Amino acid sequence: MHSMNRQWKLKRYPDGMPTPDDWEMVESAIPRPGREEILVKALYLDISPYMRGKINPTRAYYGSGVEPGDTMIGGAIGEVMESNSDRIRAGQLVVSDFNFGWQDYSVFDPDSVRIVNPDLAPVETWLDALGVNGVTAYLGLFEAASMQPGDTVVVSAAAGSVGQITGQLARIAGGCPVAVTSSAEKLEWCREIGFDRGVDYQNTDNLAEALKIACPGGIDVYFDNTAGAILDAVLQNLAVGARITLCGTTSLASKFGQPDIGDRYWRQIITARARLQGFLVLDYPQHRYNEAQQRLGQWVREGRIQHRFDVVDGFDKAPEALIRVLSSKNLGKQLVAL
Ligand SMILES: NC(=O)c1ccc[n+]([C@@H]2O[C@H](COP(=O)([O-])OP(=O)(O)OC[C@H]3O[C@@H](n4cnc5c(N)ncnc54)[C@H](OP(=O)(O)O)[C@@H]3O)[C@@H](O)[C@H]2O)c1
Repeated sequence: MHSMNRQWKLKRYPDGMPTPDDWEMVESAIPRPGREEILVKALYLDISPYMRGKINPTRAYYGSGVEPGDTMIGGAIGEVMESNSDRIRAGQLVVSDFNFGWQDYSVFDPDSVRIVNPDLAPVETWLDALGVNGVTAYLGLFEAASMQPGDTVVVSAAAGSVGQITGQLARIAGGCPVAVTSSAEKLEWCREIGFDRGVDYQNTDNLAEALKIACPGGIDVYFDNTAGAILDAVLQNLAVGARITLCGTTSLASKFGQPDIGDRYWRQIITARARLQGFLVLDYPQHRYNEAQQRLGQWVREGRIQHRFDVVDGFDKAPEALIRVLSSKNLGKQLVAL
């Protein structure tokens, strides 16, 4: 147990792709839990692409951001070290989806964390299929994209956390999932977990043509984790009545805040009578989270949802781990083990 609380603070807003020098590590006293509070020590820090949007000065969208001098935002799984509440005891494992921060210790009201059941699945799963990303895949696919049995479902960043879950949900729901990702190794993992076909967008001269071959009947659903060139290529291959869930913009990490300009075949939206749906999982009420997590939990228990985790060892590696997800280095859910 460290005698101090290590914290990663944002030093300055990144210019383009973040670099480790955009943060600095400091130490402070371990916080003390007050009445009805718990002290939690992190075991795994969540590392997710949304963090890029949180360290940008022009964040004209959702939630509060991280300003220079602030501790970096982020979720974590941790162990309760001290409890002043009779609702939770020391030694239990809990997860905070967003509010742990990049630090060793954090203090919580027990109502603001979820209790981890390590008998159900590896504990890391609570930051993947049994966490916000599982709910994102579930609601983004079934609600925002109204996926139906028989749909051809293209998923970008298919070997990442949201992507790997989305593909497996599409398979469970009777669809034909098609992966778009950046390497043969990642495509192999996607095939193992039930994607029918895949396209390696980094090793394809003509992505629109490759998608046409992979989806001869057109794309019914596109679950967009990346935006950019992959979205442009998908727009050229829409089936009539296509539905697109705009979930993330990871391909824009190095040009955050700048216009997203590409080969925009906008007329295809009209001719396909397609629907583009901007999606934010935070918009949904608690009962939809409960529904999603109950069903995801059942599929995880039954072994119908598998996961890969990409775990970087060491608190000092947190900035590098974020740069990994923003530059296609991760395979599966990116975490930092402390
Ligand atoms: N809207 C919401 O409510 C919500 C909620 C949760 C997550 N999200 C979004 O969902 C997406 C996936 O999140 P995640 O946590 O599961 O991350 P992830 O997919 O595990 O990691 C990010 C992936 O993005 C891809 N990528 C990186 N740079 C790229 C580039 N230049 N062009 C194309 N692809 C690139 C990489 O996959 P490849 O190897 O395939 O390139 C990388 O593995 C993110 O955009 C995230 O912000 C949205």
